[in-house]
Amino acid sequence: MMCEKKTYLITGASSGIGYATAKLLADNGARVILVSSSLQKLNKAIDGLQGDNHIAIRYDLSDLDNIGTIFENITNQGIKLSGLVHCAGVSPLCLIKDNSPALMQKVFAINVFSLIELVKYFQREEVSIDGAKIVSVASITAHGAGYRQTLYGSSKAAMLSAMKLMAKELLNRNIKINCVSPGVVDTPMLNSLRSESENLEIKIRANQPLGIIPAEKVADVINYLLGPATDFLTGMEWFYDSGAMLK
Ligand SMILES: NC(=O)c1ccc[n+]([C@@H]2O[C@H](COP(=O)([O-])OP(=O)(O)OC[C@H]3O[C@@H](n4cnc5c(N)ncnc54)[C@H](OP(=O)(O)O)[C@@H]3O)[C@@H](O)[C@H]2O)c1
Repeated sequence: MMCEKKTYLITGASSGIGYATAKLLADNGARVILVSSSLQKLNKAIDGLQGDNHIAIRYDLSDLDNIGTIFENITNQGIKLSGLVHCAGVSPLCLIKDNSPALMQKVFAINVFSLIELVKYFQREEVSIDGAKIVSVASITAHGAGYRQTLYGSSKAAMLSAMKLMAKELLNRNIKINCVSPGVVDTPMLNSLRSESENLEIKIRANQPLGIIPAEKVADVINYLLGPATDFLTGMEWFYDSGAMLK
């Protein structure tokens, strides 16, 4: 009997943790649907994946009104999803004195509100298989780590709360939702810190004794949370903090 290929939708798949996850899942034989706001970056990302039936969907997740079009696109192609991974995120470094309502809205829209909209469509029977898995990338910043990260950390705390509350509603289709909360990960998100700080690795190691985490390691955790290990686990936060919370 032929085993049908699993298909996973990954937001923020054009770089960093999302790309590392897409690459790992594709290496394992899955089809991946990559979402980000830049078609150019998505096409470059797809070029680096094993297999030839992956799909790129350009969508700006700060537009909360039309997220359903992502799923129309997928169901129109006769695809049912086995999983959703929400990696899209923005992390502006911003002191409270420099905050603006527009920036706040953008951070919360991309980091957390879009997840709730994505789950709204993903849970539909025509979109996902029974027992499908959802993994969202939160952050240890939700627990108070970080400076100039009030918007970012509070958006991730809201994500964690939404994840737990959505987990209850998703039980009717046996869909599991869990979050991974990494410490500092080596991705383009670090570029702004790198540009303003020499010896960043040494400074980060002072708070995160096992050092900066490679994106591929977080992808390993996401892959684990998408697999059979979470058949009996939902609504949980999985820390991957490189020792940051030992203090
Ligand atoms: N790096 C870290 O230290 C760290 C630590 C803890 C948690 N995280 C979380 O991990 C997740 C992935 O971040 P990363 O570190 O891999 O950073 P990254 O390389 O900057 O990736 C961010 C991804 O989000 C996408 N994105 C940003 N704005 C978007 C929008 N409006 N619409 C659609 N997609 C958008 C980007 O794609 P486009 O630019 O192509 O749109 C990119 O693919 C984020 O949620 C982040 O908060 C990161």
